[in-house]
Amino acid sequence: MGNKKNYFITTPIYYVNDSPHIGHAYTTLACDVLARFQRLDGLNVKFLTGTDEHGQKVEKAANNEGITPKKFVDKMSKNFSELTKSLNTSNDIFIRTTDKMHIKSVQSLWERLESNKQIYLDKYAGWYSVTDEAYYSQDEVTKINNENIAPTGAKVEWVEEPSYFFKLSEWQDPLLEFYQKNSDFIAPESRKNEVISFVKEGLRDLSISRTSFKWGVPVPKNSDHVVYVWLDALANYISALGFPNTKDQNFADFWPADLHMVGKDILRFHAVYWPAFLMAANLPTPKRIFAHGWWTNEGKKISKSLNNIVDPLELLQSYGLDRIRYFLLREVPFGSDGNFSKEAIFRRSNNELSNDLGNLMQRVFSLIFNNFEGMIPESGSWTSEDKKIIKQSNHLIEGVRQEISKQCFHKALDKIWFVIMSANKYIDQQAPWNLKDKDINRMKTILYVLTESIRHISIVMQPFIPNAMQKVLDYLSIPKEMRDFSKLNDKFQITAGTKIIKPKAIFPRLDEAKENHDPV
Ligand code: MSP
Repeated sequence: MGNKKNYFITTPIYYVNDSPHIGHAYTTLACDVLARFQRLDGLNVKFLTGTDEHGQKVEKAANNEGITPKKFVDKMSKNFSELTKSLNTSNDIFIRTTDKMHIKSVQSLWERLESNKQIYLDKYAGWYSVTDEAYYSQDEVTKINNENIAPTGAKVEWVEEPSYFFKLSEWQDPLLEFYQKNSDFIAPESRKNEVISFVKEGLRDLSISRTSFKWGVPVPKNSDHVVYVWLDALANYISALGFPNTKDQNFADFWPADLHMVGKDILRFHAVYWPAFLMAANLPTPKRIFAHGWWTNEGKKISKSLNNIVDPLELLQSYGLDRIRYFLLREVPFGSDGNFSKEAIFRRSNNELSNDLGNLMQRVFSLIFNNFEGMIPESGSWTSEDKKIIKQSNHLIEGVRQEISKQCFHKALDKIWFVIMSANKYIDQQAPWNLKDKDINRMKTILYVLTESIRHISIVMQPFIPNAMQKVLDYLSIPKEMRDFSKLNDKFQITAGTKIIKPKAIFPRLDEAKENHDPV
């Protein structure tokens, strides 16, 4: 692997009982921005996503359609793998929990836990929610309209069956100690406090097998039981790297994961059960779990029953991928909940992408095209205003890197916007369009400074809006191998005399009257 640092990032694997919606696209896109960013920053990245295909919920969905679970999951998993393509996701692996190698891996993890005396056979009697695929205690269940309901709003049913248990209760203190020693393990901070309080309240042993249905990984040496779907699902993060073969180069290079990105609803599984399973199996724990917030649609919870699912494919069709990528990562502080609305997409897109960013680039490129035969002009010496723009552009990557290392996409974009607005102010003040007859050399310098600033902005923005920035870098005739972050310094300044390509509008304004827009 040379001297490159490795970086392993994962999305949750998606349940196949539903069609993909905006929530799934959100997690995947956030990871995609991070994966692209780290690659451009010189890291050796492995980016994993996939589908979670076992469990009672999936078995029920298949029964409802009157087909075998296998047929059902083959069909449904495709919707997700196709979504990753439509989103232009740069994932390296797409795992399915029905893959043979994954099943073997889950069984090996089970055997490790068993040989470490972490599993015993008993009986489960308690509440289970098929929707959440989770167990709930009596005090978590409330009766609403004669139905038993979990804190998530999902229905629960009473289950009594033989079950294997994992000795989770033994891991309460080691987990608390682990959180204390690794203060960056759970983010954001507010979520971390929730997890710590949950663990402090006491952990009960966890039922990790089921006997009342069949669609799952058989428990080794007792195939009356299937492995609890969360133990099965969490193991995807290591089976994708070749576990149980810990000598596998992928496992050696990429485990432990640098980041598991999850939604807030599934933080407990990742921040409590997963590190406990791993510690109990003598395996290293992941470095960080980030729990992002949830999207509502025009103020309402997104759900099938409310018939307000936001279909990511329709969004792409209407607005184009880059506008959606930008909107989702800019609209809400990452970690908080957000509201999805058409009005907000229009506002962000027209004010920020079209006016601030698109117009700046368009103005600079047109001036070069109309006055200098499309050749980047030679720069004279720099005034303090010129130096300020160059300095801000040179420092941009540092600031953005810092925010990205904390998954603060909105702050990273704020920092990029600061430079964009500064360049807009500069062009207005310097008014290069007035200088052709008065001082052509000054006009050249201003356009050179702006082009260099645009070079920085577009290289740094690639992870967020890759298609649009690729176009801009193509317009500037910057070769592919000159587009990574190591080129963001004076040594690689844009070369005067380079011929630019005649630009087209980068982000045409969205028009209320039109349904489908230019697919940027
Ligand atoms: N299969 C489990 C994950 C196993 S990972 C080892 C699962 N799947 S899921 O398909 O239900 O959810 C996947 C992700 O989508 C979760 O991170 C969840 O938070 C996210 N979202 C689902 N609806 C969402 C919104 N409305 N908004 C944002 N994200 C949401 O859980």
